[in-house]
Amino acid sequence: MSQNAINLMNADSCILDASCVLKELIENSIDAGASKITIKIEKEGLQLIQIVDNGKGMSPQDMLLSIEKHTSSKNDEKDELEKSESLGFRGLALQQICNLGQTEITSRQKNRSRGFYLRLTDGKYEPVKECYSEIGTKIIIRNLFYNSPSHKKNSKSGRQELTKILKIINQYAIGYPFIGFKTSIDGKKDFIFEKESKETINPLLSRIKKIHSKKISEDLIYYNGVKGETTFNLFYSNKKNLFKAEKNQSYYINNRPFFNEKVQKILNKIYSDTFSTSRYPAFFLFISLPNSEINYRLDPSKFNIHFHNEKETLEKLTSFLDEAFHDNQKINKNDEKKEIILNGSFVNFHKNFILEQTNSGISITNTEKNKKIEISIESLTKLFE
Ligand SMILES: Nc1ncnc2c1ncn2[C@@H]1O[C@H](COP(=O)(O)OP(=O)(O)OP(=O)(O)O)[C@@H](O)[C@H]1O
Ligand SMILES: [Mg+2]
Repeated sequence: MSQNAINLMNADSCILDASCVLKELIENSIDAGASKITIKIEKEGLQLIQIVDNGKGMSPQDMLLSIEKHTSSKNDEKDELEKSESLGFRGLALQQICNLGQTEITSRQKNRSRGFYLRLTDGKYEPVKECYSEIGTKIIIRNLFYNSPSHKKNSKSGRQELTKILKIINQYAIGYPFIGFKTSIDGKKDFIFEKESKETINPLLSRIKKIHSKKISEDLIYYNGVKGETTFNLFYSNKKNLFKAEKNQSYYINNRPFFNEKVQKILNKIYSDTFSTSRYPAFFLFISLPNSEINYRLDPSKFNIHFHNEKETLEKLTSFLDEAFHDNQKINKNDEKKEIILNGSFVNFHKNFILEQTNSGISITNTEKNKKIEISIESLTKLFE
């Protein structure tokens, strides 16, 4: 990687605790094109973090490069960095992880019949050996932070650390519904999210429902909109399901989980102004926009992002949210039942129309005329005969 590209990145430590290790490893598996990721955690990650993916794998040369600082196969120059669609771009994470735990990497590329194995302790490695391996990569980290008391101190008490680990897995599982995630905790508890089928009408919603409790995911309201090159997809909980704090709110940009305080503030302010409530709904906001519009290089965790054209992007968000909440208000006002039966399927199209799944079929609302027509499942079936 050129010095120019390196200088653009924050070289601070990106590993603060076990959940950071797992986050970086998941990102690498996603970048490798995996459709299945299997995770094993023991003792909150301090005893074992194991991740197996079915991605493109590494050659023995790639493996040796992967553990060097600032060697990333993903992009090389400044321009590429700015357009980069991969979750990793610094060539930093694996090198840092290898210095903090006893690491084993096994990997096999598609075009090879055998895999390769590399073992490191204290940053020193033994020669790469040929071995049996499935296609993809398996990384094992044992005794994380055994040589770093400061990191160990940083790690939260058992439960808290496990909560953070599960949160990371859930966030990526929601951002990437077409990847199957299997997690085993201390060989006892298993969390399995099979990959969503391409036929699923709303794969994001289907994933959210598998991961979150009914209180959060039941009757989620869905709204989508396009503003120039920016697309928004928003799910928010029904008015019955509000919370005291913003904790059930997550944000994704081009599938990547992120946080931005201004986005959170705008979302909650417009919601509370529109619905006159001081309580908070669960929000899942998905934004898609060209990668060149986002800067996630200022934060070592790559989680706190900045927008290059902040004013314009936040204005688009505001206008989208105004429409989303306002349309919902209109139907609520004119619906005798006061609550719309959403069953999770609620699509806004041609600006003024809302298609909704009901118990007996579908309904289409013309929000401009405040009129709603219902089509029963029988009539729908007949239409296709
Ligand atoms: N699961 C994997 N499958 C295939 N290649 C991998 C995998 N994990 C790591 N690599 C290779 O190792 C390199 C180094 O990974 P590392 O996470 O350190 O850097 P990065 O992803 O390029 O950047 P960042 O530090 O921002 O995450 C990657 O660029 C990639 O080539
Ligand atoms: Mg990476």
